[in-house]
Amino acid sequence: MNNINIPVITIDGPSATGKGTLAASLAAHLDFHLLDSGSLYRILGVAVARAGLSLDEPEVIAQFARNLDIQFGLHGGGSVALDGEDVSIVIRTDLGSDMASKVGAIPAAREALLDRQLAFRQSPGLVADGRDMGTVVFPDACAKFFLTASAEARAQRRYKQLLDKGIDAIFPALLRELDERDKRDRSRSVSPMQPAGDAIVIDTTELDRSEVMEQVLRWVTVALSRES
Ligand code: C5P
Repeated sequence: MNNINIPVITIDGPSATGKGTLAASLAAHLDFHLLDSGSLYRILGVAVARAGLSLDEPEVIAQFARNLDIQFGLHGGGSVALDGEDVSIVIRTDLGSDMASKVGAIPAAREALLDRQLAFRQSPGLVADGRDMGTVVFPDACAKFFLTASAEARAQRRYKQLLDKGIDAIFPALLRELDERDKRDRSRSVSPMQPAGDAIVIDTTELDRSEVMEQVLRWVTVALSRES
């Protein structure tokens, strides 16, 4: 790879901690590219479910993952298409979340998605959002963040997001689903969700978006000035 001098900022952590919003705002602010790695796992999960593949055949799933025709919108943000079909909405359903964390637990599937993620490292820089961005995919990132928040705060955020979109939701069920998915993400044998040793951990339970962005920008400004 000849792009190792291009700066990468990683944002990892469990779902509904504000990672996605932060990553998108930061990428827009810096005019960097954006990698929403969760969407790759979601697309693979939905495609596997549609194709009726068995999760017990890792090599079949890995080959399938390598051959998927995925197109992201401008700078990696916005819409995403699978075989030319806009799947931006379907990958955000419960099926998308559940299947993403199931295919994400398959080592061969993770390996198969690696090159696609590395390819996002383009000039002038990249903000990468996921679970293993700072630990596995971009271990040489110049600034690494790991966002956390209490399970209740996260479920409350997800609940509000769904209601705002006009989607009915049951709070205790949401809390249970978030908890199950996090447990699976934390306990898998490869790339478990955990902060990199050199990550800055930010608890967002009591912070609003602008407060998180403010903290992150302070660190990022220092990190980028060291790079140049
Ligand atoms: O970030 P998002 O909620 O869209 O991710 C969906 C699922 O994809 C996660 O619960 C996780 O299981 C998987 N994932 C992963 N590694 C990443 C990003 C997402 O395993 N880097």
